[in-house]
Amino acid sequence: MKKLTLLLAGLGLAAAAQAQRAPVPPATPQWRPAYHFTPAAHWMNDPNGMVFYQGAYHLFFQYYPGGMVWGPMHWGHATSPDLLSWREQPVALAPDSLGYIFSGSAVVDRNNTSGFGKNGQVPLVAIFTHHDPKREKTDPAHSQRHSLAYSLDAGQTWTKYVGNPVLKSPGIVDFRDPKVTWNEQTKKWLMTLATKDRITFYSSPNFKTWTKESEFGAQLGAHGGVWECPDLFPLVLNGKTYWVLIVNLNPGGPNGGSATQYFVGDFDGHTFKPLNNKTKWADYGPDEYAGVTFANTAPRRIFLGWMSNWEYANQVPTSPWRSAMTIPRELGLRQAGGEIYLTSTPARELTKLAAAPTTLQNVAVKAPVDLARLRVPSGKFRLDLKTSQLASFDLVLSNAAGEELVLGFDKAKNEYFIDRRKAGQTSFSPKFAGRHVAPRLATAAGADLTLFFDAASVELFADGGLTAMTEIFFPAQPLTNLRLRSAAGLTFQRVSSAALRPQPAGQVPVVGQR
Ligand code: FRU
Repeated sequence: MKKLTLLLAGLGLAAAAQAQRAPVPPATPQWRPAYHFTPAAHWMNDPNGMVFYQGAYHLFFQYYPGGMVWGPMHWGHATSPDLLSWREQPVALAPDSLGYIFSGSAVVDRNNTSGFGKNGQVPLVAIFTHHDPKREKTDPAHSQRHSLAYSLDAGQTWTKYVGNPVLKSPGIVDFRDPKVTWNEQTKKWLMTLATKDRITFYSSPNFKTWTKESEFGAQLGAHGGVWECPDLFPLVLNGKTYWVLIVNLNPGGPNGGSATQYFVGDFDGHTFKPLNNKTKWADYGPDEYAGVTFANTAPRRIFLGWMSNWEYANQVPTSPWRSAMTIPRELGLRQAGGEIYLTSTPARELTKLAAAPTTLQNVAVKAPVDLARLRVPSGKFRLDLKTSQLASFDLVLSNAAGEELVLGFDKAKNEYFIDRRKAGQTSFSPKFAGRHVAPRLATAAGADLTLFFDAASVELFADGGLTAMTEIFFPAQPLTNLRLRSAAGLTFQRVSSAALRPQPAGQVPVVGQR
């Protein structure tokens, strides 16, 4: 969001004041998701500081409580016992004399290496980018610095460290989004930092002093824009440990704008070495960005992204909030066609939301097949399709207003696709309408697809999560009619749908006071 940062951060408080004065458009409750996180009101972008601690998942997020467009960034906060039902909490971090609170991470400092713990209390430590909008105008190369905050009440309230900032930019304009993890190889904290066109690794024994370890990627991967919001973690495949380096990129994604690329390789505690130079994407759709993983969920690796795109995020027609997060996804590795890929699958917690499924067996598709029995009136449902012989097909979701979302597979191009050109409002941005594609990476004849539909989004997971795509859309009414068609003809051994219902709010623990 470099351009946007310059534009909005440059305007600073003037933009904030203007946004505050801007009339709030009429509310759009029809597009409020049932099971994706949204703030009750106002602007949200990246997930930040995601950490599991004492039975609660903490989601912090880039938040502007003064308006519905990007502005002076705070860390909003929400908690969940199960990754599904979220309770919004008071703002965790607000701008101060060092600037806005940009993206970053949080960890459990079990051994109190930070010294923030008192009387044996385990501190949670957050590390984030302080972005100074005033300095950005005069000395942009030194306007992003990294700072600490800690919590001694299990994430409820946060205190900024008096010695902030702890790491200053050596003269790089885009120097941000620290993701800190404990590195067992070196017994130090490791910071994976986005530094314009590469990743820079730093290490620290105590969060307060940082030593540069290495750089990665200036000549590798996709470089259509600025590298942002990285993550680094190990995953095991067939008994062997690989390291996955996530690098969000804006713009330059496979379908335009922002997107999440990743590398699979080896990390020795100091240096990352990729297995090869193939550009890979964690999600090919236009609407998953800034995705990173939770701390402290081992052995699981749980990923959440922001469900929007900087190309039009400030214009999407929802009110009084802007943007949602993706569903939680569990990451894994899988081999396909001689390559090792990251897989994303819906976190198993999501099964708790599903009503009893309705299943059709051996659905032969040639002429259009109406799946009336699978219809879910709310438009919020999970759909699973399985075929032993994949061929080109379209799945059409439509409504009485004549709107339709078409998704499916094109065998000649070996691509999955989602076409939202007629799926509702598109006029808010010329960049929004489109037919988006994703390569099929699996080589098997058969395929499985899982789709999660909410009020204004679809997330597609194909072939055990080898190909993922996320798209938002804004229909006049829910898209509840389902039709399959295939000129080539194919049979789905199984097609099933299940309504998704939000968790009863009573199950959400209260942290702090609203
Ligand atoms: C990514 C990003 C980050 C930055 C934040 C500012 O979407 O541009 O690089 O920290 O948003 O809100």
